[in-house]
Amino acid sequence: MNEEQRLENTQVKSADKKSEKDYSKYFQTVYMPPSLKDAKARGKETVAYHKDFAISEEFRGMGQGRKFYIRTYGCQMNEHDTEVMAGIFLALGYEPTNTVEDANVILLNTCAIRENAENKVFGELGHLKPLKQRNPDVLIGVCGCMSQEESVVNKILQKHHHVDMIFGTHNIHRLPNILNEAYLSKEMVIEVWSKEGDVIENLPKVRKGEIKAWVNIMYGCDKFCTYCIVPYTRGKERSRRPEDIIQEVRHLAAQGYKEITLLGQNVNAYGKDFEDIKYGLGDLMDEIRKVDVARIRFTTSHPRDFDDHLIEVLAKGGNLVDHIHLPVQSGSSDVLKIMARKYTREQYLELVRKIKEAIPTASLTTDIIVGFPNETEEQFEETISLYKEVGFDSAYTFIYSPREGTPAAKMQDNVPMEVKKARLQRLNAVVNEFSAQKMQEYVGQVVEVLVEGESKNNPDVLAGYTAKSKLVNFRGPKSATGQLVKVKITAAKTWSLNGEMVEEAAEVK
Ligand code: SAH
Ligand code: SF4
Ligand code: F3S
Repeated sequence: MNEEQRLENTQVKSADKKSEKDYSKYFQTVYMPPSLKDAKARGKETVAYHKDFAISEEFRGMGQGRKFYIRTYGCQMNEHDTEVMAGIFLALGYEPTNTVEDANVILLNTCAIRENAENKVFGELGHLKPLKQRNPDVLIGVCGCMSQEESVVNKILQKHHHVDMIFGTHNIHRLPNILNEAYLSKEMVIEVWSKEGDVIENLPKVRKGEIKAWVNIMYGCDKFCTYCIVPYTRGKERSRRPEDIIQEVRHLAAQGYKEITLLGQNVNAYGKDFEDIKYGLGDLMDEIRKVDVARIRFTTSHPRDFDDHLIEVLAKGGNLVDHIHLPVQSGSSDVLKIMARKYTREQYLELVRKIKEAIPTASLTTDIIVGFPNETEEQFEETISLYKEVGFDSAYTFIYSPREGTPAAKMQDNVPMEVKKARLQRLNAVVNEFSAQKMQEYVGQVVEVLVEGESKNNPDVLAGYTAKSKLVNFRGPKSATGQLVKVKITAAKTWSLNGEMVEEAAEVK
């Protein structure tokens, strides 16, 4: 169908409520509007484990002579979902491309965490409109966290008629069916499941690199921090079975991956949903550390569920890195309470003390929100003082962004935007100062760097990361890529280190 017909169709639809209703029936898609209300009324729906993912015979070869392009926004979870979707595209016979002009299918894998994340996506959708007009056969899809929001789906339906597909975070395994339907249908295909979520195993994946890999250990979040959209966009907390995770990690180690990051929105809640076994993140880490892989990380930790057993296991060191990302959000117990983080400033500091006692070399990084509704100057200063007291290596800092449907979005807010911006700047000054200081301490030291390849800015320079996630640029042979090498640090910047390779390590398994 051409663009004119499409516009005609969609215009009729948006002008006429009745035809809007009929439309979902006509295409027989599972059109269940995403609903924050349903998500909040989360019940005890049993998690289904599907181990039988396979590309159905009827879809094989669908991608013959076609190319796909996926643009990813947001967190590692989304990046990893993109790897899964790329795996499905390849299994369907599509080829990847790096340019939208070249693509037959364009997917935007979106993030809903803050308003500016969403604005970026709507901006990009605007840019894609002329491309769609030039080439009506190209399929444009919106997936990821924004698709789970009712308001976003409605906005796309009303204003972005050049979108062909919208699907959510619970059904990326349905990509072949969704594409097939988009090819056949004249209307936007919408398949967003407003459900609590299952666990789908055996999904194909095309990993972005050959050195570092992500492994999901759990999905969803049940914490419902009052500012956060994630529990609504990602469904309830559900853990993958330990044997499936360990098998995937072993497989990656055998393929030569050097670093594995275990992923979840709240990895410390891992295993809490198992009814048949008592098994937590500490138990999982204790088994995974025995796998022959150089570095193992996990993200993101929630302070509330960070238990002593996990600390004990992390203290065993070895391939378990001594860097922990532990988002605190605020240094004020009163603000933490309204955020529903379920810990106090004192409890956070006590956890930090325990971690440092058990792992003296541990470096900590964090996430902080400034300008939460009605945050006072004193409360903000408590955040600054907590930052200094913990001595974080670095932090991701954000101005609070109201998210529709979350409890915080309904709160009256007496903090003007200029004040929030000024607070962010003040906090960032402290963050930069601490980072520069921590970096300075490395000068003259020898660190172990996992080499990722040429530096972005200079092809004659290699770049890699230390166990504590410090970026190191240094001169060395290209053959060091993918290896762990020793580098002597010669200079420090605020966010990176410069050095000289002192020894080319033997092949690290
Ligand atoms: N699961 C992680 C956080 C994932 S979101 C955790 O609980 O730590 C990443 C970060 O985005 C959060 O840590 C928080 O600092 C920030 N964030 C989340 N919602 C936000 C909002 N509405 N406004 C501003 N920042 C937000
Ligand atoms: Fe959001 Fe809180 Fe869940 Fe993190 S723990 S994803 S901040 S609700
Ligand atoms: Fe964004 Fe969704 Fe991740 S909202 S931060 S992409 S879980």
